[in-house]
Amino acid sequence: MDIFIHDIAKHIDHEITVKGWVYNARSSGKITFLQIRDGSGFVQGIVHQPDVSAQVWDDAHRATLESSVIVTGKVAKHPKRDEYELHVTGLTLVQISPEYPIGKKEHGPDFLLDQRHLWLRSKKQWAIQRVRNTIINATYEWFNNNGFIKIDSPILTPAACEGTSTLFEVDYFDLGKAYLSQSGQLYIEAAIMSHGRVFDFGPVFRAEKSKTRRHLTEFWMMDAEMAFCDHKLNLEIQEQLIGHIVARAIEMSTEELVILERDIEKLSKAVPPFPRMTHAEAVTKLRAMGSDIPFDDDLGGDDETLLTQDADKPIFIEKYPAKVKAFYMKRDPQNEELALCADMLAPEGFGEIIGGSQREDDYDTLIRRIDENGLPRSAFEWYLDLRKYGSVPHSGFGYGLERLTGWICGVRHIRETIPFPRMITRLTP
Ligand code: 4AD
Ligand code: MG
Repeated sequence: MDIFIHDIAKHIDHEITVKGWVYNARSSGKITFLQIRDGSGFVQGIVHQPDVSAQVWDDAHRATLESSVIVTGKVAKHPKRDEYELHVTGLTLVQISPEYPIGKKEHGPDFLLDQRHLWLRSKKQWAIQRVRNTIINATYEWFNNNGFIKIDSPILTPAACEGTSTLFEVDYFDLGKAYLSQSGQLYIEAAIMSHGRVFDFGPVFRAEKSKTRRHLTEFWMMDAEMAFCDHKLNLEIQEQLIGHIVARAIEMSTEELVILERDIEKLSKAVPPFPRMTHAEAVTKLRAMGSDIPFDDDLGGDDETLLTQDADKPIFIEKYPAKVKAFYMKRDPQNEELALCADMLAPEGFGEIIGGSQREDDYDTLIRRIDENGLPRSAFEWYLDLRKYGSVPHSGFGYGLERLTGWICGVRHIRETIPFPRMITRLTP
């Protein structure tokens, strides 16, 4: 019977067949050990010379690293560990690999990124993509259970959402320039006036020349938007969502987190409520730690790292100076200089994973903000209409999937959390 390795425990003492790849092989005397992976898991195949045909014994020696194979054998529990073994009876070599470029020795990141199409097979990279998948599923699950529907936003757009200096331009027929979306937010703001609560989930693009471990030029963003939702409720929704995602990752991807040597104990502390701190309080704290950051500036990556190094849960930094944030954010009625916004910073120094705010819902104020920011009114006519026909207080937020995956996996550089990273110096493979 053909099975996936993930299900092997159900087949003790039975003969089964797995189809996969050899990720390690070694021989000693009359025994050859073949480590097999099939995408769903890993198993050790034991080939015992006296028990197999001469052909199988020979083939077991010809199976090089990453050769594709079909292996039949009897399942047994490992005498000591909580693992299963396959006592091999049959072996077919589907294709024999020549010497595999990624070996046992240490490789540098550039070499591995050049080999990304192969690197994806290694155990740690396998685990990261599985956790990423769990995060995606948990996100859909939480939204489905909380009255949201998914609305897809366009990727080709006529104007900027998050500032004009970081756009990828495309020639768009006779209509001039189009820009790759930086976030679907503005479009899902339109959709909440039809559906109440919505989210989108897709690739977004930032042409900013940031070479940090937290920046990609193409990454996946989930934007959520809620009608009749103020700043306070916005934060509560975010912490519930993130709490759910972390709990699901621990539950569904335990094996992967163990492979990644993630401190699950630490991760499990991310249970709502998450602490809130204003931007002014954060700056005061940073200055007490020796930073010279001014009160009217944005926080940088290093500031975020400092603020969250000793945190055991994500924290919200609320009410940034409005001038460093996007034009669409509503101002704090108690202090017009501040935006009704918050960034969620992951603990253990992982930095910003969510950006969000209450949105400006007053027509005249929003026109003023568009003008103040030097944005073309004509491109925002439709967006202004949302404040003309049945405007409501509304809020939303967006998470970066790679940053979230990086934190949950304990991987510091987010280039490892997306299958094929796009950075300012990398477009291949
Ligand atoms: O904070 P940002 O720029 O917010 C927005 O785009 C809003 N329109 C979202 C909204 O309110 N719907 O981006 C949101 C998140 C960040 O918190 C971060 O996790 C991630 O996207 N992000 C990046 N991830 C990887 N590479 C980059 N260059 C990123 N820029 C932002
Ligand atoms: Mg942000």
